[in-house]
Amino acid sequence: MEIFHISAECYPVAKVGGLADVVGALPKYQNNAEHRVRVVIPCYDTKFKKENEFECVHWSSVKLGNFNFPYSILKEKTDQLGFELYLVDIPDLFDRKDVYGYEDDIERFLSFQIATLDWITGRSEVADVINCHDHHTGMIPFMMLYCHKYEKLRNIPSMITIHNGLYQGQFGFNKLYYLPEFDLAHVNVLEWDNCINSLAVAIKCAWAVTTVSPNYLNEINYSANGLESLFNLVRYKSKGILNGIDIEVWDPEKDAMIEKNYSIKNFEKGKQENKEKLCKLFNLDPTKPLFSFIGRLLEEKGGDLLPPAAALALSENYQQINILILGSGSTIIEKQLNTLLQDYKGNYNTFIGYNEELAHLIYAGSDFLLMPSRVEPCGLNQMYSLRYGTIPIVRRTGGLRDTVVDFGDDGNGICHDQATVGDVCYSIQRAVNLYDDKEHLNKIRKIGMNTDHSWERVCQEYIEMYKLISNKK
Ligand code: GLC
Repeated sequence: MEIFHISAECYPVAKVGGLADVVGALPKYQNNAEHRVRVVIPCYDTKFKKENEFECVHWSSVKLGNFNFPYSILKEKTDQLGFELYLVDIPDLFDRKDVYGYEDDIERFLSFQIATLDWITGRSEVADVINCHDHHTGMIPFMMLYCHKYEKLRNIPSMITIHNGLYQGQFGFNKLYYLPEFDLAHVNVLEWDNCINSLAVAIKCAWAVTTVSPNYLNEINYSANGLESLFNLVRYKSKGILNGIDIEVWDPEKDAMIEKNYSIKNFEKGKQENKEKLCKLFNLDPTKPLFSFIGRLLEEKGGDLLPPAAALALSENYQQINILILGSGSTIIEKQLNTLLQDYKGNYNTFIGYNEELAHLIYAGSDFLLMPSRVEPCGLNQMYSLRYGTIPIVRRTGGLRDTVVDFGDDGNGICHDQATVGDVCYSIQRAVNLYDDKEHLNKIRKIGMNTDHSWERVCQEYIEMYKLISNKK
């Protein structure tokens, strides 16, 4: 099939969160399975852009209401990522360091979507399916159906994959004139809760809706930041497909970013060497269990629970455990985490920011990975940590519930039900006890390392969904 993925992020070109990892991996495996896959994202001012070569395959200008922005479509020359990568270069709007967080984000991503559709419409060969990801591309299914200038795309199936339903890309009807001309009889399709809601629009208009885990799909029927009733209405075209991970990028046997490679056969020694390196870097004690957190420091991820839970666990187990936090997000949480540095020197440290290489070393060198998320549509970190023999400690929610089973039930991790300091600390205590029983600990690590979360298997589910909607043409 000829598949287009349209997204705001794609690893290693531009990454903020897990969305990038999925859009950097799924297309590669689809391509390996003999499909022709193109990924389209905006052209940010990133390292990847600077260090690689691109050729301009199309240029024009994109009209957003009364504005006109010149743009070009840049194709990465070598297809080194395992698929065709296209960057939509709109210098006025995207030639910036960050992916999100600007006042004109609505204008930026609308222009991106319109430029992308202008380009696709003008091509001689069109696609079999257009897979959009999250709200930044949510207006595309609507525009394909109702905008006059995209009439040629009307019969191409579109699918929206929801990586996080909390963010919906709402904007006021005062910006309606930004959209290319469409039949006003359909204007009500744009409305949700008195504004234009990009994610709701996509859910209504796409031929299929997928979420990144089956359990998240169940949950959003009763908790979806205002979209619950809409999700109920579209159940007939929805499916939860559990994310995979890129097992070539995340492979303790070959990973060049870690200190010592290892496999399931020699993981004890291998992990210990990585732990020693990590502990040296962060002044921690390699003879004691190491609990880590990697991710965005947001309430959604339970980031606010980390400072009090770390303080409590470290004081209860004085000098018996280590905690290491890698991430950035809320400045309040960042500050709270840093204030603990003085009190627990030698057993606690933080790295505020993001560093992909360090993340790899942390998966390899830690004993346990904390994920106390309030909301977790899928979660990839627990899968990375399982693959590296690091035991995930998760709150049972979203995709975490689909992928981690408590060791008390012969599973691969440690689970708790509440996003509370008490539950997190109770799980840490169970982990401390488990750490002392090396045989049991290693048995659980092995179960994790043996789990197959590769895209190879999962990517077929996407293809089946595309085929299903193609038959509805
Ligand atoms: C978002 C979700 C996360 C998911 C990722 C990739 O970041 O918050 O749970 O794993 O997207 O789908």
